[in-house]
Amino acid sequence: MKVSVIVPTYNERENLPELFERISRALKGYDYEIVIVDDDSPDETWKLAQELSGKYNVRVIRRTKEKGLSSAVIRGFKEASGDVFVVMDADLQHPPEVIPSLLKAIEAGADIAIASRYVPGGRVENWYWYRKLISKGAIMLGRLALPKIRNVRDPVSGFFALRKEVVEGVELNPVGFKILLEILIKGRYEKVAEVPFTFGLRKAGESKLSGRTMFNYLRHLYRLMRWEGELDRLLKFSLVGLSGVLVNEGFLWLFVHLGIDKYIANIPATELAILNNFLWNDLWTFRDLRKRPLPQRLLSFHAAALTGALFQWIIYVVLVWLGMNYLLANLVGIVLSFVVRFLFNRHVTWG
Ligand code: GDD
Ligand code: MN
Repeated sequence: MKVSVIVPTYNERENLPELFERISRALKGYDYEIVIVDDDSPDETWKLAQELSGKYNVRVIRRTKEKGLSSAVIRGFKEASGDVFVVMDADLQHPPEVIPSLLKAIEAGADIAIASRYVPGGRVENWYWYRKLISKGAIMLGRLALPKIRNVRDPVSGFFALRKEVVEGVELNPVGFKILLEILIKGRYEKVAEVPFTFGLRKAGESKLSGRTMFNYLRHLYRLMRWEGELDRLLKFSLVGLSGVLVNEGFLWLFVHLGIDKYIANIPATELAILNNFLWNDLWTFRDLRKRPLPQRLLSFHAAALTGALFQWIIYVVLVWLGMNYLLANLVGIVLSFVVRFLFNRHVTWG
């Protein structure tokens, strides 16, 4: 098994000597190459990498027209000659000593092995609590939006290994810098393993990722949801919800006209709307995801409806109490209830 360690770089000159030395020590006994993909760094990282290629087995790709972390990694995949690809940063926040554990996980049968900050034993060094919170919140959002990766603890890690077949011939979108997320959605794989590691401090130089990062991440999630068909599901779920409103109103009108008490008639009308929604979601929105037995799905759908209603009510009460206009508060509640019901059904009822 030959290993290609792919390292995207931009202004990382000062980190190269230690990086190469530690990789070569960690991979002693392995057949490996290091592939540096540099975007014509002003500090001439590419040049130093070329100079060091006498001492270490380094190949340098100097890109002058393209830019960007993800596209650099994708370029690395194309140039690499190994059977297994390792992707890591140059700034030593990713300790090379972890690479053998990643390779062992691959040897043990994983198609993708992630160096993870968020499995037991993993951590980040020197992050304020709010940075951790943002990072974890962003990951949680991704796992909710993309059920395919819901069991992955650190789907945005920049440090991972994979068999080359996972990405071979797969069209990866180079926009955005969460290349692992892209691979986890579009790649061809069965088994993912996560190996704990400590995301350390940058040795030298400065981070290139900031500012619009969060916004870009959300856009990336949106694109991947569309690609996965999750956005279609959301749309179908909304249409079904609208049909439920009609059913609810229609039966309420009917029951009241049949002489049933107004205070009571609302209950069977609502139940009929729930049944209507269940039917269409089961036959249409989530047709391909019918794994649980029917009675269980039906029960779970009711639990989702109840949970949604509860959220709606709590949000309404809290926002009105905080002084928000009651109609607006109700609207916020409705939207939240919709999201809660969709996620509940997507992950549990048809999970
Ligand atoms: N070729 C190329 N082109 N390389 C780049 C570019 C670029 O436009 N931008 C950044 N890099 C290289 C850096 O030189 C470094 O080796 C690596 O990509 C990561 O860049 P950093 O600037 O150090 O990123 P970070 O530390 O903020 O983010 C890291 O951690 C995140 C998780 O918190 C990265 O590994 C992210 O991918 C990861 O999501
Ligand atoms: Mn970094």
